[in-house]
Amino acid sequence: MGLRINDIAPDFTAETTQGTIHFHDWIGDGYAVLFSHPKNFTPVCTTELGAMAGLADEFARRNAKIIGISVDPVESHVKWKEDIRAATGHAVDYPLIGDKDLKVAKLYDMLPAEAGDSSEGRTPADNATVRSVFIIGPDKRVKLTLTYPMTTGRNFDEILRALDSIQLTAKHQVATPADWKQGEDVIITGAVSDEDAIKRFGAFDRILPYLRKTRQPHA
Ligand code: BEZ
Repeated sequence: MGLRINDIAPDFTAETTQGTIHFHDWIGDGYAVLFSHPKNFTPVCTTELGAMAGLADEFARRNAKIIGISVDPVESHVKWKEDIRAATGHAVDYPLIGDKDLKVAKLYDMLPAEAGDSSEGRTPADNATVRSVFIIGPDKRVKLTLTYPMTTGRNFDEILRALDSIQLTAKHQVATPADWKQGEDVIITGAVSDEDAIKRFGAFDRILPYLRKTRQPHA
């Protein structure tokens, strides 16, 4: 079975473009976004890693480290970074894991159903990581998982938006509605009584017996 929300994110040691990392130590006290791509020197992946590089400062502002992974070797990542910069204008300054033996890909269940056992002789279709994303919290637990098919590039603004929600709801007894963005009204969770909601949030709107909204609390 794959990883579930609130599972401890498996720890591992891996070679990256920034040296050897021990994953949990590398995460430290903040958040981490681990995201896989199928294969270096392919078009959709090139745009994705560039998009993530363009948002690197936004993740850093949220105390979230980002790290990419594929089953390509680190030397290949280093060469490909030049293409990513040329194509997207963004330098990939975050580490990329070279998971040649598929160790991390297997730990995180990043391989498609038809994947083989080694990176030898693989093709992008049968032995490469799919487009997975894991947001991991300071407690090293999985907060979000997302999996996209090979042919669909991800929306990295959505990952940032989800991280905002995760960080907000970790601090306050609120949830965020569909399409919520930073600064918009939030939902008071059912665990909070009306009386307590007034104390905590000052005021709220009751839209349905089970749907109460209030202004976003300050971080
Ligand atoms: C791509 O990045 O364009 C790609 C990679 C693997 C399979 C399909 C597309």
